[in-house]
Amino acid sequence: MGSSIVVVNFKTYETAQGVSAEDMAKIMSRIEAPARLVASVSAFDLAAVVQAAPGLEVWCQHLDPVGFGSNTGWLNPATAIERGASGTLINHAEHKVSIEHVAMLLDQVPEGFDVCACAADIEEARALSALCPTFVAVEPPELIGGDVSVTSADPAVVSGTAEAVRDVSEGVGVLCGAGVKTGLDVSKAIDLGTSGVLLASGVTMAEDPGAALQDLVSQL
Ligand code: G3P
Repeated sequence: MGSSIVVVNFKTYETAQGVSAEDMAKIMSRIEAPARLVASVSAFDLAAVVQAAPGLEVWCQHLDPVGFGSNTGWLNPATAIERGASGTLINHAEHKVSIEHVAMLLDQVPEGFDVCACAADIEEARALSALCPTFVAVEPPELIGGDVSVTSADPAVVSGTAEAVRDVSEGVGVLCGAGVKTGLDVSKAIDLGTSGVLLASGVTMAEDPGAALQDLVSQL
């Protein structure tokens, strides 16, 4: 499916919040790569990041299937879109939701709005792909934030997810994440049947995030 994609999840890393989120997004927007680069940012930072890095794809980290009205504290997709989001993560290991939540969100967002549903394993990836999100991202929770890339620690979960998702729907892209740090990790992810990666600390904790990003896309 199309070009490869590198999604950087800013989480609540201090290096990627507030003004630092804007700086990180500017660094991302300067990277030239034959791939889509996406920043997945805090809802607080969405509008500022979109303004600071025009042209960069910006996603939310979570959305709720709510509309306008009495929904205190929930994240309305329509507002996210108005503020410039072109997609969202959902069901991240650090922000799990029910499968109904994912289904209702997919029903609600307009066509062309990317939804990347995260899964802990092949089974969850298979179940989520039946809902036809844009992407399913497999991330073994125990490897998240670690030093060993899922592509080395558990290549079978990556290739198995790619196969399982393809069996359900050819139209759903597959990403993998957890411990991804280098261009070699990214090319291995592609070789294992994915369209790209979802990562965080490899960029947000890097001494030089620009160099880390450049390396991540170097083998594409
Ligand atoms: O959403 C990406 C993530 O959970 C993986 O985190 O720090 O292992 O790249 P990290």
